Amino acid sequence: MVHLYRWLSLLTPFAVAVVLDLCSAKKSSLGPLIDCWYVEEVESRAGSFPKAVSQKKALLLLRENGHFRRPLDFTPPEHLQPGMIFDLMDPTLLLQDPVFRSSLRSKEAPSCEINAYSPQAAFVDWALSLTEEQRSPPDLGGEWFSSSIQSANGKFSLATIQQVVSHPGEDGIRVKSTVVALHVFTHSPTAIAQLGQAVTLDCGFSLAREGRFSLEWRYQFQGSGHVVYAYDGVRDRVLLAQEGTELFFGDLHKKGYASLLIHSVSIAHEGTYLCSVYTPYMQAQRGVELRIHEPPRISLSPEPLLVLPGQEMVLECAVSHYYPLELTVEWLRRRGRKGGATEYVRQAWQTSHKRNADGTFNITSSIRVQGSREDHGDLYTCHVSHASLKTGARKSVHLKVAGESGLSIDNVIGLFLTALALYGILKFLGIKGET
Ligand SMILES: *[C@@H]1O[C@H](CO)[C@@H](O)[C@H](O)[C@H]1NC(C)=O
Repeated sequence: MVHLYRWLSLLTPFAVAVVLDLCSAKKSSLGPLIDCWYVEEVESRAGSFPKAVSQKKALLLLRENGHFRRPLDFTPPEHLQPGMIFDLMDPTLLLQDPVFRSSLRSKEAPSCEINAYSPQAAFVDWALSLTEEQRSPPDLGGEWFSSSIQSANGKFSLATIQQVVSHPGEDGIRVKSTVVALHVFTHSPTAIAQLGQAVTLDCGFSLAREGRFSLEWRYQFQGSGHVVYAYDGVRDRVLLAQEGTELFFGDLHKKGYASLLIHSVSIAHEGTYLCSVYTPYMQAQRGVELRIHEPPRISLSPEPLLVLPGQEMVLECAVSHYYPLELTVEWLRRRGRKGGATEYVRQAWQTSHKRNADGTFNITSSIRVQGSREDHGDLYTCHVSHASLKTGARKSVHLKVAGESGLSIDNVIGLFLTALALYGILKFLGIKGET
C-alpha cells in the first residue's frame, strides 16, 4: 500500500502535465487546432520516378462560427516553418457539425494532410456542363489548398478545398487565411454489410458559393475500377447507373446528401467507392470502403455423439458460408459434469477453405474422440472466431458412451442398494417358502 502511494505521488505531476499539454494543444479561443502535414512533390534529379515527396509540420485553425476577419489572438508555435499555419474560415458551417466536432475530441488526434491545389476544368462527360461557358471566374488565379482530415475514431473523413484570402497587414503573424470553397465528407469511411442486405455508402458535400455540381461514384478494387453512378447536376441527368444502385435525389440538391444506395450486396460489391463532387473548376472526393461480413453457419456431426466403449470416433465441425476467408476454429473439452475443468483439444485437423458459388467459404475441422467409460458426459465445443462475430460462435455436444447413459455414482449405489433389498426380500420369501 505504501509503495503504491509512493508511485502514484511520483506519477501524478507527470500525468497532470500531460493532460494540460493535450488540452492546450487542442483548444484555443479560435476553436480546434489540428496538427497536419503539409505534403508536396519536390523537384529532384531529372526524370526520377516516383517523384520525391517532402512533408513539413503544419497547423490548421478551425475558426469558431465561421467568422471572418476576427483578429487572431494566437502565438504560433516556434517549430513551424513560415507559411505553415492555415486559418480556415468556413461559410458553409459544416465544421460546426457536432459529429465532426466530437470526432475531433476523441483521444487520438485526427490525421490531417494539406496539399497545394490548382483549380481546373474536369473532362468527364457529367462535369462538362459545369464549365460550358468557357469563362473561368477571375478569382481562380489565387492560391489554393486542399486539406484532408480523418478522425481517429473512424467516424468522419473530410476533404476540403480552400482559397487563400489576403488581408494585407492583418494580424502580423505567419498565418495563411483561407476560405472554404468545397467540402466533401463521409460519416462512415468503412461500411459493413451482409450478403443480400441493402447498404448506404455515406457521402455529403457543401459548397460555399456556387450552386452547380456534378456527382460521380467510382468503384475500385485491386487496381481495377469503373464508374458506378454518374449524375450531371446542371442538366439534372443520370448518365450512368449500375443496376441495383440509387441516389437520394430528394436530399441531393437541397442538402448535399450524395450517399449511394446498393440494394442487395453481393461479394462482387466489396471494394472502395470514391464519391467525387465536381463544381466548376474544383473537384474533391472521399472514399468509402465496403466490406462484406457474412457470419458462418456451424454444425457438429455426429450429433448425438454416441460412442461404444473402447471405440474411437471422429467428431466434425462443419463451418460454412462465411466471408471473408480468415477464420479460426478451436476445440474445447469440459471434463465430466458441469463445473469440470475445461481444456483445449490440440490434436485437431482441418480441410482447406472451399469456395461456394456465391463467393463465401466452407471449412471443416475434426478431432478424434475416445469412448472410454470415465469420459462419459464430457462436453465437446467447437468455437469459431470470425470478423463477422463479436464474441465468436459455438456449438457443443455431450459425449455419450454406450451403456453408461444416466449412470452416475449415485445411481450405481442406488441400484446396488435396490438389488440388495430385493435379494433380501427374495431370500426372506425363499426361506418362508421352504418352511
Ligand atoms: C458448404 O457447406 C454447405 C453446408 O454444409 C454445403 O451445402 C455446400 O455444398 C458446401 N460447399 C462446398 C463448396 O463444399
